[in-house]
Amino acid sequence: MTGIRACIFDAYGTLLDLRGAVAPFAGSLGVQADALLALWRSKQLEYSWLRSLTAQYADFARITSDALDYACEVVGQEATRVRPQLLEAFDRLPAYPGARELLDALRAAGLKTAVLSNGTPAMLKAVLGSSGLLGGLDAVLSVDSLGIYKPSPVVYRLPSNALGIPAEALAFVSANAWDAAGAAGAGLQVIWVNRDGAPRERLPDGPAVQVRSLGDVPEALRVFGLVG
Ligand code: LAC
Repeated sequence: MTGIRACIFDAYGTLLDLRGAVAPFAGSLGVQADALLALWRSKQLEYSWLRSLTAQYADFARITSDALDYACEVVGQEATRVRPQLLEAFDRLPAYPGARELLDALRAAGLKTAVLSNGTPAMLKAVLGSSGLLGGLDAVLSVDSLGIYKPSPVVYRLPSNALGIPAEALAFVSANAWDAAGAAGAGLQVIWVNRDGAPRERLPDGPAVQVRSLGDVPEALRVFGLVG
């Protein structure tokens, strides 16, 4: 794995399974659970981009809550009834299978590991702690200190500055294609975890490598090592 000195991970949707936010309510929400999650997540991201574009930053806890309010109003009464618990569940999302093992394997191979996320430091501490990932990370980096969200290029400079490692020696792993594109534009070596086999984004920059799951990341890093 020469060339790459640290592996930086996106949090929500990459290491952490967002489906865990609605899973406890599958019984009462029924078929609406998936629709609620999809709308909650898309509004959450939309608000992050809009507030960045309009220079009206509010932290990720606030926009996560605002997005949930919107989604509950669309989905209806039952979602609104369990709203407080849904918000709590967002801070206790489970890790994807193999996530902790991957972090441990990377560190055993001599790489630093970090998270770079839109989440606030408090949200990240809670969710990475409860999911068992915190102990596998050398650093947890939040956009909150910058007051702007991904994919602003300034966000992707955080890991370099925090770890003292140049961007080209950083692998960035994200399941969010737009996040992968943003990191690639900032000069990081990007691995896109494309779990659903989605088409490539039509954006100026793209990932160096696509994999189907977190378990494929070490092999992708070996590829980087050969060219690094
Ligand atoms: C994050 C969002 C993009 O963790 O999922 O930054």
